[in-house]
Amino acid sequence: MIRPSKRRIVLGIGAGIAAWKSAGLVRILRLREFDVRVVMTRAATEFISPLTFQALSTHPVHCELLDVQAEAGMGHIELARWADLVLIAPATADLMARLAHGLADDLLTTLCLATAAPLAVAPAMNRQMWSAPATVSNAALLRQRGVRLLGPGSGDQACGEVGPGRMLEPAEIADEVEALFAEYGLGGGSGGDADDPADEAIPEMISKGSLAGLEVLITAGPTREAIDAVRFISNHSSGKMGYAVARAAAMAGAQVVLISGPVALPTPPGVRRIDVIDAQAMYDRAMEKARDCDIFIAAAAVADYRPIHSSKRKIEKTKESMVLEFTRTPDIVAEVAALANGPFTVGFAAQTERVKERGRHKLEAKGLDMIAANLVGVEGRGFEDDHNALSVLWPGGEKELGLAPKHDLARTLVETIAERYREKYPD
Ligand SMILES: Cc1cc2nc3c(=O)[nH]c(=O)nc-3n(C[C@H](O)[C@H](O)[C@H](O)COP(=O)(O)O)c2cc1C
Repeated sequence: MIRPSKRRIVLGIGAGIAAWKSAGLVRILRLREFDVRVVMTRAATEFISPLTFQALSTHPVHCELLDVQAEAGMGHIELARWADLVLIAPATADLMARLAHGLADDLLTTLCLATAAPLAVAPAMNRQMWSAPATVSNAALLRQRGVRLLGPGSGDQACGEVGPGRMLEPAEIADEVEALFAEYGLGGGSGGDADDPADEAIPEMISKGSLAGLEVLITAGPTREAIDAVRFISNHSSGKMGYAVARAAAMAGAQVVLISGPVALPTPPGVRRIDVIDAQAMYDRAMEKARDCDIFIAAAAVADYRPIHSSKRKIEKTKESMVLEFTRTPDIVAEVAALANGPFTVGFAAQTERVKERGRHKLEAKGLDMIAANLVGVEGRGFEDDHNALSVLWPGGEKELGLAPKHDLARTLVETIAERYREKYPD
């Protein structure tokens, strides 16, 4: 295990409605043994009390720049020097604008200018604010200067609208922070324990740049096959594994398009998401994009069968029994694998028994480059769980990825895909 006791974060809180979530973020970061000092904008204190953050971080909260007492203690320069990473969550449109233009009109923006530490911001705002040309160009400017933008995600917003601009969930931000610490080697000499061999594996697991310049198409989640206007058949896929792979691929430098069935997950940062409902739509979108991508990863649990007849109206409860007739849906991964000059194709095989044997059979029968086979139907791993274990198989080789959080597994899987891809297509 990594020993992160000296990893120091200045957490800036902007005046967004998502500020309440940052209380949870402080808690998660502390559980992961980060030392957190909170700096709030003046307006943020109208949304949530500094006392909350003081209690959760166990340190005084800093709000004022022109404060004689604060400057006599840990003032802006000390905070700027102390931080291994400055993280702003939520980052308002206003804060992003002030950061982009080098303003130093409060404690948080001043310390951002004064620090040599990397800066990461988690934007949180209404979708119109996020897509306003000023915000778009401020975000681009910040990225260009090396500021890491974590998110935003997309989905329901506090204002009642739906779209991009949601702050990532605290656990996702914490994952991103862990990845940044590993990537930059931050905190107490990278925070590792030289005696623990597992530590050496962690930077490798955080895949930096191994897919740079490549386009990766990923499918994730379940599909829903309509029975009538209100009913469908589907499966237990949560999309977590596919989303984790999409995020890991984006972190590894790939341009990622994610074709997603209906799931309750935010879009991973830097990923372009296309939503579909049924197998046919997933097939149509995948075939449209597959020729243009370098790597195709089929993590979706696509229905194998759909009802032959689907009623546009709700079927009334008149009969004692009913029979549904099903027909096969298109086999997306097999068709992509069969494309002439198609992408490097990776399948997933969810099995309830004889995982490796069936995985290898599927690999060969469908002509895939790689398959990640996993056991489902047991507690503590698989479909809806946050953990999983994979047997990764390819022609002539295999690798076991033991039980681990899906985000960690996804990073290792992406590294393995990158290695196999480079072997198949050496520069
Ligand atoms: C109820 C309410 C909610 C707000 N939520 C957001 C938000 O989520 N994101 C945002 O960028 N601005 C939001 N604003 C506007 C900011 O609070 C405003 O721009 C403020 O000046 C930002 O201050 P700061 O950047 O110094 O923290 C909200 C304002 C109000 C009144």
